[in-house]
Amino acid sequence: MEAAALSRIGLAGLAVMGQNLALNVAEKGFPISVYNRTTSKVDETLDRAQTEGQLPLTGHYTPRDFILSIQKPRSVIILVKAGAPVDQTIAALSAHMEPGDTIIDGGNEWYENTERRIVEAENKGLLYLGMGVSGGEEGARNGPSLMPGGSFQAYNNIKDIVEKVAAQVEDGPCVTYIGTGGSGNFVKMVHNGIEYGDMQLISEAYDVLKNVGGLSNVELAEIFDEWNKGELESFLVEITADIFKVKDEHGEGELVDKILDKTGMKGTGKWTVQQAAELSVAAPTIAASLDCRYLSGLKDERENAEKVLAEAGMKDDVASVRSGVDKKRLIDDVRQALYASKICSYAQGMNLLRAKSVEKNWNLNFGELARIWKGGCIIRAVFLDRIKKAYQRNPNLASLVVDPEFAKEMVQRQAAWRRVVGLAVSAGISTPGMCASLAYFDTYRRGRLPANLVQAQRDLFGAHTYERVDREGVFHTEWTKLARNKS
Ligand code: 6PG
Repeated sequence: MEAAALSRIGLAGLAVMGQNLALNVAEKGFPISVYNRTTSKVDETLDRAQTEGQLPLTGHYTPRDFILSIQKPRSVIILVKAGAPVDQTIAALSAHMEPGDTIIDGGNEWYENTERRIVEAENKGLLYLGMGVSGGEEGARNGPSLMPGGSFQAYNNIKDIVEKVAAQVEDGPCVTYIGTGGSGNFVKMVHNGIEYGDMQLISEAYDVLKNVGGLSNVELAEIFDEWNKGELESFLVEITADIFKVKDEHGEGELVDKILDKTGMKGTGKWTVQQAAELSVAAPTIAASLDCRYLSGLKDERENAEKVLAEAGMKDDVASVRSGVDKKRLIDDVRQALYASKICSYAQGMNLLRAKSVEKNWNLNFGELARIWKGGCIIRAVFLDRIKKAYQRNPNLASLVVDPEFAKEMVQRQAAWRRVVGLAVSAGISTPGMCASLAYFDTYRRGRLPANLVQAQRDLFGAHTYERVDREGVFHTEWTKLARNKS
């Protein structure tokens, strides 16, 4: 006999994200069963459920007890490390599940793994969702952005739960059914790629303000706080302001200056760039952010290069550039450069999503994606409402850059943007994200590019042929013969 009071849903995997999401579900009034292979985590979660408001959460110590404690058709969220641990958890749990039950993977999983598991689940009569969850620990506990893809029926089974658990913004909960297959994971992956781009662009703004503008951490905190009240209002700008305020408890000054300049990563940004290349979509800002993480890792080599190049006569030009700078104007220019660079980065991410959506027939709704990123997730920002509206105005928008509203904003900001990039280049302060965005903009907006010359070269050395601007057809020319015979 099954126990009388069954839970509405289950969650397996009680590391930081799992614990917090389970408590969030319980707090929204949905009784939840939890399970973890290491049983101390179950007890820890039970304790928290008690102290955080006697929440309706029950702990289970075997996969069987756990599964049998959930009401049918069962929905079970798993939040374990992506890859093999997901397969192991599915094997352990699905042995006790029945046709019609659902597995929901909430990790940062590679979308093809989800597509494989969907088929495996179907073979057992089980339903499957790959659900991107964004917002870190705080988001999981109080309202994340959720990106579920896979079985529509499985989504409908948990719709009432996820709509309450997700972050709430003025135009609804930050969750929507993304599409079939691995679309939920793919959308989350691109969210992370955009997150890499945003973080890189912010770090470049910091670098320019600090080194060209000479701003102190106190001033930087003020500026980022100020920016967070305007068009740049976002979670990442807000936390950046906070970071500049934290003093170093082990010494003088602020902690940020004591942090080793090597960025870690778990892989979703790399997947985004790989997918962009696979789909022939230009994503230079996101790629620049990834390259910067790689270069940041070469700390010893960078220190050595600094030394070798100084010995070879490299001069530090920052001081001379700084002396000619109007600080107030620089701050305002950097704000505009950051905003314009962001638009280009989001354009790249959205266009990658569109290419994949066409390839996989996912029918992604870009306005809805921008909407569910307005709250809960790491890239949440006021600016996403403008992106939502751009796609509502035109669901087939070729690029955010040519949306009439964004186009106006780009034009208004381009002079400032060029000044910042120009100053950074002359000071020798690398701004790969801002430069990549600007080059993307300048390439995309030009009706005529020097690609004609590349085509001519290809035709010359490989007879790859070319098209003409003035007549139909495919052409080949004996370039060398003609060029040399002439003279
Ligand atoms: C989120 C984040 C999260 C991601 C971290 C770390 O949306 O909550 O994207 O899922 O794991 O940001 O990513 P990296 O370690 O690759 O920087």
